[in-house]
Amino acid sequence: ARKDFLAGADLGGFLKERDASALARLAAGAQAMFRRMETGGKPVVAAINGTALGGGLELALACHRRIAADNPKTRIGLPEVTMGLLPGAGGTQRLPRLIGIHAAVPLLVEGTRLDVRKAQEAGIIDEVVPVEALLGAAKKWLASGPEPINPWDKKGFRPPGGDMSSTRAQEFFTVANSMLRQKTYGNYPAPEAILSCVHDGIGSPIDVGLRIEAKYFGQTAATPQCQSMIKTLFFAMGDANKLKRRPKEVPQRVPSRIGVLGSGLMGQGIGHVTAQAGIEVVLIDSTREKAEAAKARSDQLLQRNVDKGRMTAGQKKEILDRLHPGTDYAALEGCELVIEAVFENRAVKAEVTQKAAQVLADDAVFASNTSTLPISGLAQAYPRPENFIGLHFFSPVHRMALLEIIRGEQTSDACLAWSLDYARAIRKTPIVVNDGRGFYTSRVVSTFADEGLAMLVEGVKPGLIENGALMCGMPMGPLALSDEVQIDLFYKIRKQWMEDLGDSYDPGVSFEVAKHFVEDLDRPGKAKLKGFYDHNEKGERHLWPGLAKEYPAAANQPDVEEVQQRFLYIQALEAARTFEEGIVTAPADADIGSILGWGFPAWTGGALSLIDQIGAAEFVTRCQRLADRHGERFVPPKLLLDLAASGDRLAA
Ligand code: NAI
Repeated sequence: ARKDFLAGADLGGFLKERDASALARLAAGAQAMFRRMETGGKPVVAAINGTALGGGLELALACHRRIAADNPKTRIGLPEVTMGLLPGAGGTQRLPRLIGIHAAVPLLVEGTRLDVRKAQEAGIIDEVVPVEALLGAAKKWLASGPEPINPWDKKGFRPPGGDMSSTRAQEFFTVANSMLRQKTYGNYPAPEAILSCVHDGIGSPIDVGLRIEAKYFGQTAATPQCQSMIKTLFFAMGDANKLKRRPKEVPQRVPSRIGVLGSGLMGQGIGHVTAQAGIEVVLIDSTREKAEAAKARSDQLLQRNVDKGRMTAGQKKEILDRLHPGTDYAALEGCELVIEAVFENRAVKAEVTQKAAQVLADDAVFASNTSTLPISGLAQAYPRPENFIGLHFFSPVHRMALLEIIRGEQTSDACLAWSLDYARAIRKTPIVVNDGRGFYTSRVVSTFADEGLAMLVEGVKPGLIENGALMCGMPMGPLALSDEVQIDLFYKIRKQWMEDLGDSYDPGVSFEVAKHFVEDLDRPGKAKLKGFYDHNEKGERHLWPGLAKEYPAAANQPDVEEVQQRFLYIQALEAARTFEEGIVTAPADADIGSILGWGFPAWTGGALSLIDQIGAAEFVTRCQRLADRHGERFVPPKLLLDLAASGDRLAA
């Protein structure tokens, strides 16, 4: 009746229950049900018509045979770990018993989703048949009189490749454990619990293994990390992708043709993902060569997919045929949406905005991809500011899942609703924020970089700064990030803000560092292969040895815990300020934006959920201590003081 076989359990239940024993009983209940089926004396075959993930694959693994329909959209796997959980209905026990420890552990720990063919190669699926032959094949197998016993219930069973008694398996676990620690720094309970389940359970009879799994499942599901991850990654993101906050009274409008002004790094990416979604794209730049170059870049990106067998040459051609490069604004006629991604310069942006306005219909949406200029100001160049909005993409556009939508002062509900329809069409996860300097994402992530530069000035060793950030789960250190984003860009933006805001704006110590690097040291960032790091053409980097002379190490170095706390808390505080000021209007947007936008560690559930996880009262106390040591930027806003007093949480 449905397109999926079974895509997993109802995670809502796990959020209601916080007690580890009760959660373990929940897992044991599902295990017992599958076990009855598996040992009931009748052969059972899973006819996998579509996606079988999590509990869905666990059900299939408890069957005696798995036959899948040859459907390229089907995904097979145990992705529980990506929600901070572990498979609790036998997955950690049956999968390694079926395909061996070495093959199973990476799939379990990474939550890999395989297509049907790969799942068959891995030994998870026994047979792949054409869609229409599925039930026939299943019945045929049943009619062949198969033995209704899984291998692990037979006497003398040993998993393929051996159990824990082999030296090879012991070595494997030692390496797996240390690799995991290197990757997660112990921030994620789930992958560690998965390793323990396999390690402790594989040598025992399956029923003992299942009891071990249920115990670890309960302990893990009760952790604050798991609860925060489910809340944000499953529920909040699900709501965002379903456009829960879209103004409902506006009829849906997915554009069939859009325009992109400026076909540089961002314009190219925007055109690319839009054409991939089946929408025609007019790509405009100041010269035909530049616009054509963007199309050529798309060609390259798509060719990689063709080479890897993910796309046919015909599909590639279809997508490329939707990209129409040129210089003539008349080609924008009939576009329901135009996105400008020209230079970050008000005058240039105003000029292209006005030119496009002349050709566009009254109800067309005009969007800016600016990363720093307030939207309401840019909207003045458009004759219908109610149709003007910010659509802030992230680089590289084809990989980054987030779209930060910025409502200007005059942006109408229809303009917002249609922008959200577009976000869904191109499969980006949208958050909706109000206008303000740096909006939400750029503003909050810059506090992370600033904090790193402030530490440098204090004499904290660069290695400690960078590692502290990695250890709390940031994808890169603040110095590496500054190099990536370009120190000179950071410097330019801050100078612009100083001009715009005058004395009311305090650029902080980081401004002086950026200025020194750009103006005195000529180390503007990665593009010139020199910034806080020395970079090479191969993409490798090493901290610049000269840092020690520029910022001599202080005699007393802080604990790494304090470094981590400063990085996470400064971002959480800024996120709370954006919420207090009404830039962010729903905590879920702040959480999603932080994780998808700049890789804020997922174990926190996002920049605001972190505060709930710690508890506002405790968070406020710790921030006040940091404020005493490091300055006013750590003083908690009133919103948090009120929460600390009332005991309430930010998220519902
Ligand atoms: P870019 O320099 O790669 O591309 C800008 C393009 O606009 C160039 O191809 C240029 O020829 C074209 N252009 C300039 N003036 C024009 C005009 N009058 N008419 C037509 N085309 C014109 O810059 P990038 O990085 O793509 O940035 C574009 C916008 O996106 C900026 O507003 C930037 O702040 C924003 N942005 C950039 C991000 C990034 O990571 N680079 C991330 C998010 C937003």
